[in-house]
Amino acid sequence: MLNFEFLSPTKIFFGRGVENQVGDLLKQYGATKVLLHYGGGSVKRTGLFDRVVDSLKAAGVEFVELGGVKPNPRLSLVYEGIKLCKETGVDFLLAVGGGSVIDSTKAIAHGLQYDGDVWDFFCGKATVQKSTPVATILTIPAAGSEGSNSCVITNENGNIKRGCSTELNRPVFSLLNPELCATLPKNQVANGASDIIAHAMERYFTNTTNVDITDRLTEGLIRTVMENAPKCYKDPSDYEPMAQLVWCSTLAHNNILGVGRVQDWASHNIEHELSGVYDIPHGAGLSIIFPAWMKYNYKHDIPRFCQFANKVFDITIDPFDMEGTALKAIDALEKWYKSLDLPTRLSEVGIGEDRLMEMANNVKKPNGDGTIGGFVKLSSEDCYNIYKLAL
Ligand code: NZQ
Ligand code: ZN
Repeated sequence: MLNFEFLSPTKIFFGRGVENQVGDLLKQYGATKVLLHYGGGSVKRTGLFDRVVDSLKAAGVEFVELGGVKPNPRLSLVYEGIKLCKETGVDFLLAVGGGSVIDSTKAIAHGLQYDGDVWDFFCGKATVQKSTPVATILTIPAAGSEGSNSCVITNENGNIKRGCSTELNRPVFSLLNPELCATLPKNQVANGASDIIAHAMERYFTNTTNVDITDRLTEGLIRTVMENAPKCYKDPSDYEPMAQLVWCSTLAHNNILGVGRVQDWASHNIEHELSGVYDIPHGAGLSIIFPAWMKYNYKHDIPRFCQFANKVFDITIDPFDMEGTALKAIDALEKWYKSLDLPTRLSEVGIGEDRLMEMANNVKKPNGDGTIGGFVKLSSEDCYNIYKLAL
């Protein structure tokens, strides 16, 4: 295990009805003017918006509102939010929605404290030095942004989707009520579950040895998602399985599973290019990319894939055919995606060969040598081969 520091400072309020405390909490945390930021309308249809407004008013917390965040949140709305907050003196931001709303909120929070262009933080020109406090009310278990150090925004100018990682991305507090997820459309339950296990797998596939505790936690989390997501898919108002999924969402990406090891993250960056260019849901992009990434890379560490097969899918390791065992795990993963009607091929979401090379070249390659991935280092050509495998 490698040396590490771990702090996940977001205070979590979990369970039925927790969102109704939001006004009092914001007051306790010293908010005087709040931006209430939300998406395309689900929070209004479900009545959540009105309850949040009532809570703010009851606590005497002033607010301005800005809706319209799209999945794969856009930079233009972030700019609009920064302008609105500057004009109205906002000093605290409240995201009500999923990962897209939360990320848009985080980006506005950073932009509010920065004189330059907030995109600088996403294209690597600047690092966030100061931000504005953010709280969240989560409505979908998926991105983990409610507790993560990450924020992902799409710049419409070129459809470039980029993440910015900083500890200043962690919300001050997050209110997680699984009841709020009861209205989720089936495909969003599936997309979310796919993202949660992807966050676990990005950390699981590592070259760092002696990471037993985080391996076991990660396998347990993936199993929990695999058992409970189908129940939520069938009935998102079934509280107990949704409660498992919601807590898994946070735990999969607050980095408790990632400490003391080198993490991979190639599949995410390869996927971000896809959902940036084609505007598909991130979770659906991951169910296409992850199996292809695995098929391309499993030979790098067949025993680790065998461990994954055994601990996650109860597949018996065949000592005379370790490769076959590894391949069975990839097959089992694809079958699980299919059981939730998630795509596992680019062709299923109408994507062909035409832009694969362009995307492969544009995938963010954070390793100093122009490659991506902490488990296997991948060049642009490798990314292209993975897209091809996913066709
Ligand atoms: O916009 P509304 O009308 O609210 O509808 C949303 C949206 O259409 C709907 N929805 C959410 N909660 C609902 C609901 N519909 C009915 N009832 C509810 N309770 O679901 C749709 C998807 O929402 P979105 O916020 O886009 O989903 P998700 O949480 O999966 O977020 C995806 C974004 O997060 C990024 C992804 O790349 C993508 O842009 N990620 C952010 C990360 C982070 N900040 O740590 C890490 C992830 O790896 C990921 O990259
Ligand atoms: Zn993700």
